[in-house]
Amino acid sequence: MTHAIRFNKTGGPEVLQWETVDVGAPAAGEVAVRHHAVGLNYIDTYHRSGLYPVPLPSGLGLEGAGVVVAVGEGVSDLVPGDRVAYAGGPLGAYSEVRNLPAHRVVKLPASLSFEQGAAMMLQGLTAQYLLRRTYRVQPGDTVLIHAAAGGVGLIACQWAKALGATVIGTVGSDAKAELARAHGCEHPIVYTRENFTERVREITGGAGVPVVYDSIGKDTFMDSLRCLRPLGMMVLFGAASGPVPPFDLGLLNTLGSLFVTRPSIAAYTAKREDLLAMANELFDVVGSGKVRVEINQRYALKDAAQAHRDLEARRTTGSTILLP
Ligand SMILES: NC(=O)c1ccc[n+]([C@@H]2O[C@H](COP(=O)([O-])OP(=O)(O)OC[C@H]3O[C@@H](n4cnc5c(N)ncnc54)[C@H](OP(=O)(O)O)[C@@H]3O)[C@@H](O)[C@H]2O)c1
Repeated sequence: MTHAIRFNKTGGPEVLQWETVDVGAPAAGEVAVRHHAVGLNYIDTYHRSGLYPVPLPSGLGLEGAGVVVAVGEGVSDLVPGDRVAYAGGPLGAYSEVRNLPAHRVVKLPASLSFEQGAAMMLQGLTAQYLLRRTYRVQPGDTVLIHAAAGGVGLIACQWAKALGATVIGTVGSDAKAELARAHGCEHPIVYTRENFTERVREITGGAGVPVVYDSIGKDTFMDSLRCLRPLGMMVLFGAASGPVPPFDLGLLNTLGSLFVTRPSIAAYTAKREDLLAMANELFDVVGSGKVRVEINQRYALKDAAQAHRDLEARRTTGSTILLP
């Protein structure tokens, strides 16, 4: 028997329970992984609260790193003892040991620790597809990244800078502004105090930016559209302040033939070859030192509820891991 965080009903962090579970042997096509570290992500709060409905009772969490302890029938490219990490797949990463489909798992390079693996797979692969595929950042671009001091934010700021972009980032406090600045964000804006649309117009000499990466949602979406230059790309990839309500598509015309997309890591990593190529690019950019993965909070896995409280109260910066 091992332990896992599970929940029987949606709600606040208090619904998360530390339970004894019987994992069983991996099924065909699965591997069993003993976690050394588990990643905390904002999406975990959407699953817990019911914003993204899941069948209950359920496990939680989409990201972890550890060692393969058993493989199911038909798994040929992984063996017990392999160091691995993953992002996505069925919920259940908040656990000591779990089974998951082998095709979701990648081998972790020897140069990367389990903690780094658990901290960066989901947020780093997200930064990869946002900057390299959704809107391909070009040298000389000026881009706007919301929640610049967060998990995705710190990785995306560094990566965008490494690609030759000038980064404007929004943050909730002066301390976060300094942190973002130290990670490649040349123009941090404290959006709880400053009007970020006006600041973006000032910084870009009135031109606007070619892309906004917006994970805040309801509170920032409309103003984000007004930061774009004509034919600009609005990338709405999260809802930390709540989901964006329906809006008049005619606005995209009047603001300059804008594009809007609502991407998810699940779609971008659905094909195994894409997942592997994305992971390799992430491992390269971290291995080269261009992107540092900042693990600024660590919690015992059984204290996941407190980690959720801190994340939702905007008390965290960078990445957070849970330790079994
Ligand atoms: N679509 C995808 O594929 C994908 C994948 C990964 C993550 N995401 C999204 O990306 C976002 C960032 O994820 P993360 O795990 O790296 O989290 P995070 O950015 O570390 O934490 C969320 C941050 O959002 C900001 N925020 C602004 N308004 C908020 C509000 N009303 N309530 C709470 N936070 C608020 C806070 O920063 P400030 O205090 O600086 O404002 C907070 O620290 C999330 O929205 C997540 O859902 C999407």
